[in-house]
Amino acid sequence: MVDSNISINLTNRKEYNLTDFTNVYSRIMQFDKNKSAYIHQWYPFVEGYSKEFITSIIDELDYKPKHAFDPFVGSGTTPLELQEIGIKCSSFEVSPFMHKLATVKLERSYNQNGFQNALDAVCHNLNGKLLPIRNIMEPPIAKTIQQRKGLDKWLFNRPVMDGILDIKHVICKIGDEKYKDLFTIALASILLDVSNVYRDGKSVKYKKDWKRIKIKRRDVHLKFVTVLKETFLPDIILLESKEIVVENKDLCILGDVREGIKDFKDDSIDLVITSPPYLNSRDYTDIYIAELWVLGFIKNYDELRSLRNRTIRSHVQVKHGDIEIIDSQELRNVIGKLSENTKDHWNKEIIGMIKGYFLDMKNLFIELRKKMQSEKKIFFNVANSAYYGVEIKVDMIMAEIAENCGFKVEEVRKARDLKPSSQQKDLIDSLRESIIVLTS
Ligand SMILES: C[S@@+](CC[C@H](N)C(=O)[O-])C[C@H]1O[C@@H](n2cnc3c(N)ncnc32)[C@H](O)[C@@H]1O
Repeated sequence: MVDSNISINLTNRKEYNLTDFTNVYSRIMQFDKNKSAYIHQWYPFVEGYSKEFITSIIDELDYKPKHAFDPFVGSGTTPLELQEIGIKCSSFEVSPFMHKLATVKLERSYNQNGFQNALDAVCHNLNGKLLPIRNIMEPPIAKTIQQRKGLDKWLFNRPVMDGILDIKHVICKIGDEKYKDLFTIALASILLDVSNVYRDGKSVKYKKDWKRIKIKRRDVHLKFVTVLKETFLPDIILLESKEIVVENKDLCILGDVREGIKDFKDDSIDLVITSPPYLNSRDYTDIYIAELWVLGFIKNYDELRSLRNRTIRSHVQVKHGDIEIIDSQELRNVIGKLSENTKDHWNKEIIGMIKGYFLDMKNLFIELRKKMQSEKKIFFNVANSAYYGVEIKVDMIMAEIAENCGFKVEEVRKARDLKPSSQQKDLIDSLRESIIVLTS
């Protein structure tokens, strides 16, 4: 599997084994591979990894894990794939939308009958006379979510928002909570399709010629029903035929892992597979703004602010203030270089974000060390980043932090080369995405 071994020396301090795993990982690190995979396909999630990444790890372990953990569950790839293999997995997710997505995918008690009844009722209600929907259900209050006077840009045209509200209204009438949630995720899966935007890098961007988009209210209904029939129903039929070995849904906790992990029993975890938000100033509440507002996970700007404050410090949407720098020579070098030209920074929270990110990771590793049984493995997927031509070797700094917290760094596996952002591409050729392999 390993192509080459390169030993790299970090500012004369620590040496970690950098192994080239690009031939193994370049094909399986993107969520793209899950696009037509059973249940994983219910929602296209750009920031996730594939189910093959999980199975590749289980295949290489020399022990059978009994209780795995994913502190940053996102769309639920880790607990879902482990559930398929029959391995218990606890997880955390801070975003209410992501948490709903993951738990809907982890639910095991759907059946064809119940699904079909809910679908028939939804189709019946949507096919009737169009209702004065805005008298029944209000659109979200977010400023640029829908077309209104005085705005020159908006995410959803008026007829599209009406179609979405119709669907939300019929979903409300479903009696069984689990189908209510499942159908909400089906609605989430078509939202960007019917919007004026697409997801790109740090946020959403407007589609080319978006002002010419003409999607009617009934077109939105049709897309929703089609995805339920063509994508969800076949998976429900398959799911019903499978034997249930473990259920990871109730072990998927909504909340900030920095706090929640403290309540875990010591020595209770024997495998960690995870991918924290990358240190690329991407704010998930911005990227998933349409889902959060439209599906009612966020109702006002105070809730949005509070959610941003609970996320790992990988973005500049909150004031980070003065943060202590953790003990890492490599990190000190980076902060030193970046501090030379702070007046040019596009945002004055960048240095706070970088310090805060590694402090969050250090605190997480301290807790993980207590919660993990000894001689068990952690697979930590991260990517390096760059600001103003200064590369931040996140993988090496993270390895150093983990080692200082009592883990043994087995190796840092190079997974892929990622493209730097448009501002950095003239200064940095590529940024390494890696898997840090640790033993407790
Ligand atoms: C890179 S994504 C994980 C993707 C996941 N591996 C998958 O395949 O779907 C990182 C996730 O961490 C979540 N997150 C950020 N801060 C968090 C926190 N403090 N506690 C728990 N989850 C957090 C984000 O909302 C995001 O969904």
